[in-house]
Amino acid sequence: MISRFAKAFIAIVVALLLLSTISFLHPNSRAYLDPFSGELLGEDGMEKSLRKGQPPPPLAGVEGGVIMSKLGNATAKAALGRATWKLIHTMTLRYPENPTQDERDALSSYFHLLSRLYPCGECAHEFQQLLQKYPPQTSSRRSASLWLCSVHNHVNERLGKEIFDCAHLDDEYDCGCGDEPIGTSALPVNEAVEMMRGGR
Ligand SMILES: Cc1cc2nc3c(=O)[nH]c(=O)nc-3n(C[C@H](O)[C@H](O)[C@H](O)COP(=O)(O)OP(=O)(O)OC[C@H]3O[C@@H](n4cnc5c(N)ncnc54)[C@H](O)[C@@H]3O)c2cc1C
Ligand SMILES: *[C@@H]1O[C@H](CO)[C@@H](O)[C@H](O)[C@H]1NC(C)=O
Repeated sequence: MISRFAKAFIAIVVALLLLSTISFLHPNSRAYLDPFSGELLGEDGMEKSLRKGQPPPPLAGVEGGVIMSKLGNATAKAALGRATWKLIHTMTLRYPENPTQDERDALSSYFHLLSRLYPCGECAHEFQQLLQKYPPQTSSRRSASLWLCSVHNHVNERLGKEIFDCAHLDDEYDCGCGDEPIGTSALPVNEAVEMMRGGR
């Protein structure tokens, strides 16, 4: 015969087990991990995860071929390239650290539209192929800016130019906008660069 004390002890253990099971099924936190994407979603995570199963809302004109013709003048082509790289690197370096799904869609659409409308047709054609192979990474400022740096390096490689060290993005594109440099975020830039080289 078990003592009254042992009975009470077992009852408490069972009650604790039940409680922990319930709190496991219903996490207290408002955030949760999306089982498909592995993303941590916020309060409106449910809505987002529902949307995930469906194709993103169609945006007219984003998909399709190159619109512009060949740009014959090499001087103009180089000047256009420098100006464009300046614009888009600065854009990814000011992009939100924690973008919403809408902001992520906007950045991805922007690059796809640029690959259609870039005023040097033969460059745009190459850019379209690069986007196919390396789709825009939009999950954070860090991933977007490092993604673009590596895409630019693919163009550099093809044109026989020097490869740029992506750990120096902050120094190169200090726009004086008063933002925190990406180097101050959790993951050291060099590690993140390695991660990108590894295919992510
Ligand atoms: C999408 C796109 C496609 C292009 N395709 C072609 C093409 O097919 N044929 C062609 O002749 N030209 C192409 N160009 C232009 C070409 O990339 C150069 O811009 C141009 O040749 C001038 O080169 P540059 O040596 O002055 O340096 P750019 O490549 O213009 O770079 C400007 C500055 O950015 C910095 N930089 C260099 N690499 C990186 C990097 N990986 N990340 C961040 N910063 C960096 C350096 O400080 C560099 O001086 C393309 C440009 C763009 C934007
Ligand atoms: C080529 O472009 C440069 C710079 O845009 C311009 O100064 C030059 O006149 C152009 N050359 C021709 C042949 O159009």
